[in-house]
Amino acid sequence: MAEEKKLFKVTIDNITIDVEPGTSILQAARKIGGDVVPPAMCYYSKLQGSGGKCRTCLVKVAAGSAADPRPMPKLVASCRTNVMDGMVVENITNPAVLEARKGVVEFLLLNHPLDCPVCDQAGECDLQDLSYEHGSEGTRYEFKRRTFERIDLGSYIQLHMTRCILCYRCVYTADQVAGNREHGVLDRGDHSQIATYIQNALDNEFIGNVIDVCPVGALTDRTFRFKNRVWFTKPVDAHRDCPTCNGKVRLWMRGDDVLRVTARKDQWGEVEDWICNECRFEKKKVSDWEIEGPTKLDRHSVINAGHYTNIVKPKETIQDVLGGRTPKLMMDIHSVSEVNTVDLNELPGPATSKTFNGNPKDVGRNVTDVKEGKGRNLAGTDSTNPNTP
Ligand code: SF4
Ligand code: FES
Repeated sequence: MAEEKKLFKVTIDNITIDVEPGTSILQAARKIGGDVVPPAMCYYSKLQGSGGKCRTCLVKVAAGSAADPRPMPKLVASCRTNVMDGMVVENITNPAVLEARKGVVEFLLLNHPLDCPVCDQAGECDLQDLSYEHGSEGTRYEFKRRTFERIDLGSYIQLHMTRCILCYRCVYTADQVAGNREHGVLDRGDHSQIATYIQNALDNEFIGNVIDVCPVGALTDRTFRFKNRVWFTKPVDAHRDCPTCNGKVRLWMRGDDVLRVTARKDQWGEVEDWICNECRFEKKKVSDWEIEGPTKLDRHSVINAGHYTNIVKPKETIQDVLGGRTPKLMMDIHSVSEVNTVDLNELPGPATSKTFNGNPKDVGRNVTDVKEGKGRNLAGTDSTNPNTP
């Protein structure tokens, strides 16, 4: 008879659970779920070696184990600390942890620009969510923030280093998923930056996944930049027969336009299956995909604004008033509006008012941000505002 595996008992915020030895406190908390799960900005369960960089997952270990119930002297990173049998952990039940987390958020925001209104990641940004939930309303920082020029990392990805929080996820992704890393963290201390060696492009066929793992808007999809706000798009699960990856993706649609293709993410915001560049960047037509149905989003951020499942519609009363007759439409906006003649996903830049007023091919100033080139984007050609840091 197979020997029964000994499980460790761990208590997190007064909830006790049995987990296998070798489980981290963060993973144990994820098994419980809900509010006791510490936020994680750098840990990614699918990337080996990730975690331990951002400190957002700090918790208090009030009792180390049943054998040695002394508390740990300092707060610990829950993604990098394994449970012991009889361990007692405090997260949201300990005010000191919440206060420390506030400090971590303030620290992460020292150099991060508050450019959410023009950032493509807004609405699905982990740092945005984190600062709403755990941040304080001000900063004590008085010095000049560091800024960087935008850099085109090949045809598809743009690096906005000013927004990077140095979580290293993209570095591990390039190493472990794409298997061909040409970028990394260069320099030390407050000079650290994500960069490619002499501006090499990242052109491996799985490199697009670095966009999905980036918790902030530092790595963005050049085929989607400034095309739309994410909360105006509708996420739909779809698949195709792809020779390179398993072809299971999420389409972000506006009307019939596929504006963006990403990998599917789980409830922790982690990619379920890595997808290839062809699926991500080159398949922007509905006919390229078998649509499975609307995505069920678990996230509680503004990204859910486009939710359209389980909608409870108010009772239609017009027919009652009209004695059962259906009202006649005076004007069908869809048949007269020019908006429907515009193929947003085929425009090389953002649409302008002219695009909808007789010139469906007109695009904004980032028309020069065609998919070519690499290196410093000195002209700042992919921002509607050249002064955006
Ligand atoms: S670019 Fe994004 S994924 Fe890479 S280290 Fe910076 S924040 Fe992390
Ligand atoms: S998630 Fe644990 S240190 Fe970043």
